[in-house]
This record gives sequence, C-alpha cells and structure tokens, in this order.
Amino acid sequence: MVRGLKDVAAAETRISYVDPMGHLYYLGYDIDDLVGKVIYAEVAYLLVHRRLPNQKELDQFSDTLISEMDLPEQVMECIRRSPRSAHPMDVLRTEVSRLGQFDPNLNDRSDEANVRRATKLIAQVPTILAAIHRSRQGLELPRPSRDHGFAENFLHMFMGSHPDEKETEVLHRVMILHADHGFNASTFAARVTASTNADMYAAVTSAIGTLKGPLHGGASEKVMEMLDDIGLEEEVEEYIQGLIDDRKKIMGFGHRVYKVEDPRTKHLRGIVEDHCHRDRTMSLYNKCTKIEGIVHERKKIYPNLDFYAAVAMDALGVPKEFYTPFFCSSRIAGWTAHIIEQYEDAILLRPSSNYVGEFGRPFVPIENR
Ligand code: CMC
Repeated sequence: MVRGLKDVAAAETRISYVDPMGHLYYLGYDIDDLVGKVIYAEVAYLLVHRRLPNQKELDQFSDTLISEMDLPEQVMECIRRSPRSAHPMDVLRTEVSRLGQFDPNLNDRSDEANVRRATKLIAQVPTILAAIHRSRQGLELPRPSRDHGFAENFLHMFMGSHPDEKETEVLHRVMILHADHGFNASTFAARVTASTNADMYAAVTSAIGTLKGPLHGGASEKVMEMLDDIGLEEEVEEYIQGLIDDRKKIMGFGHRVYKVEDPRTKHLRGIVEDHCHRDRTMSLYNKCTKIEGIVHERKKIYPNLDFYAAVAMDALGVPKEFYTPFFCSSRIAGWTAHIIEQYEDAILLRPSSNYVGEFGRPFVPIENR
C-alpha cells in the first residue's frame, strides 16, 4: 500500500509536469518562459487545445470566452437567493453543478463538444464568483464587453471598476500561475469522476469540492487569517515558533512534490514586491518574508503557491473568502484539459485498498443487540 498515493503515477499526461527540482511545465513550456510574456487566455487555450494560439486564434478564443460569460437567468437567481453565510466555494460548487442542467447536449461526448463545454466553463466560472460577490453587496453585475480582454472583464465584473495596467498584470500572472499543476488532488478528483464517463460538470464539481480543503486550495484563505492574526511584524517570530512548538501546520508552506522552492513562489513574491508601495501590501510582504526565513531555518520547508498568492489577491482587493474561488477561476482551464485527456485514456480509475478490518463476526439480530 502507498499511503496518500505518494509518488504513485495514476495515468500518463501531456498537460503539465511538476518537476520535483523546482520547475513547472505547461504542455512542455517552462512557466518561467510564459509568465510576463503571455496572457491568461493564451494559457487557457494552450491547456485545452494543447498548443499555443496564433494572434488570430487568440483573438477568436478571447471573443468566444467573453461572449460565453453570461449565465442562465435561473443560475443568477439561485446565486442571488443563496445564503450570505454560505462560503463562496460552496455556492460556486453548486452553481457549476447546476450549469450541467442547462447543457442541451450533455450526452454529446465528442471532442468538439468537450472543447466547447470546456471553453464555456472557463468563461462562466469567473462570472459565477463575480455574481456571488456583487449580489452580496446588493450591486448589479457589470456586463462583459469586447472592449476589454477576458481576464480584465472578469476583474471588472468582480470589482465593479476596470483594473489599471498594474492590476491587469498582477491578475494575468496570478491566473497563469494557478492554471494547472499536474496530478494535484482536485485534478485527480476530476479525473476519477471523468474516468467513470460522468459528464464534465460532474467532474468539475468533484474538483471544486476537493480544492476547497485547507491542505489544497483552501490554504490561501488560511494564510491571510494567519497574517491578520499576527498583528505586528515584531510578533511574527513568537507566533510562528508557537505554531512549530504546538506541531501545527504553517499554512502556505510545504509541498508533496517539490523538494526545493515551488517555482511559482518567486513570480508571486515578485508581484507582491512590485506592489509594496501600498501600505497594507508592504506590511503583509514584510511579515511574509520574515515568516519564510523562520520557517525555512527551523523546518527546512519552503512557501508554496498559496503563500504569496494570498497577498497578491489582497493587493487586487479580493476579500479572503474569494481566494479559493479565484484559484478555481483559472484552474478550471487545467481541470477541463485533464478531464478531456481522461476521456481519451478511457480507463476507470479505481484503486484497491488494504482491508484491515475483521472477518467472521457473529451476526446478532437487531432485537438482541
Ligand atoms: N507546516 C509545518 N510542517 C509541515 C508543513 C507545514 N505547512 N508541511 C509539511 N510539514 C512537515 C510535516 O509536519 C512533516 O514533518 P514530520 O515528518 O516531522 O512529521 C513533513 O513536513 C512532511 O509533511 P507531510 O504533511 O507528510 O507532507 P505531505 O506531502 O503529505 O503534505 C502538504 C503536503 C501540502 C499537505 C503539507 O505540506 C501541508 O499541509 N501544507 C500546509 C497546507 C498548504 O499550504 N497547502 C497548499 C499546498 S500547495 C497548493 C495547492 O496544491 O493547493
């Protein structure tokens, strides 16, 4: 038995490779060569179509994404009626599941239908979270417009104002770095569901449920709770040492695969550093670098994606309960790419287990128990 399926390869994939020595490849491209040179829609195209688009293809893809952003009115209504106390991840999971009811060709599993479905989900997941956020503030959801890019439309719909140049750059980088990551837990969950030949909405719903956990995508929200909890920069050392002494996990640190620093960290740290002119970001950044030093010195572990992602999203003005939904808004590209690949592989993912229970227990009828 391999506890936690550590180092077990469950399938072949061409979509992304997580190199334990600190590199991440999307379809063979090192993310270090993509970040800062491509926009998010280009990466989403790369993942779903397995090649980079030319300019005309990218323009068409961006247009399609923008035109697919609208949600069915029934889904909008359910978002408006969802309890304000519900975590946005729970609303997102439910509404993605509901979208399946509005797919008129749910049983068409051709490649073309799956790519169309993936494109629509890449467009609609961001709209769902924008709609949750806006409706909770009692505000209208801005309409998407072809005058702006897809990612820019998303942030506009979420925040209500168009992002400036710097915010746009942060947004693209955050979305690109969250787009895919090998056989992580939520992608694996999506592939298990797809391996039963269940539809794409069912598979994405499984993935969202899995991403929510604090050991996975839920970590970024916990990182911000920790940073807020720490208070002053001078309190960092005592706080972190307290966690270590109590043998508690430090959120945003450690990784199952990387033996060195997560290759996404340097890009996110860089983004945050560029935003240090804002007082709050400067203070969060200073706490983060201090935490990083202490944790590395005492535990020999490095920050992962979620650590600086929390600060980058804070710099964009995203409330912390929306960090994990934001993660979904770009990981949807990776999930759908993996779901399509799993359909092609056409094998049921069904591991075995080591039974450690009893045998031969004498049955006692209910009236005698
Ligand atoms: N804080 C303190 N100690 C840690 C941490 C941490 N964040 N991560 C690992 N360790 C220690 C752990 O206590 C264990 O020590 P020992 O061998 O003495 O018991 C050792 O390192 C191995 O840890 P593990 O939990 O067995 O490693 P894993 O591969 O099963 O877990 C992990 C990986 C990501 C679940 C874990 O590092 C963790 O819980 N991190 C905190 C949550 C987090 O930041 N999650 C985001 C993951 S990356 C983005 C994503 O995929 O969503």
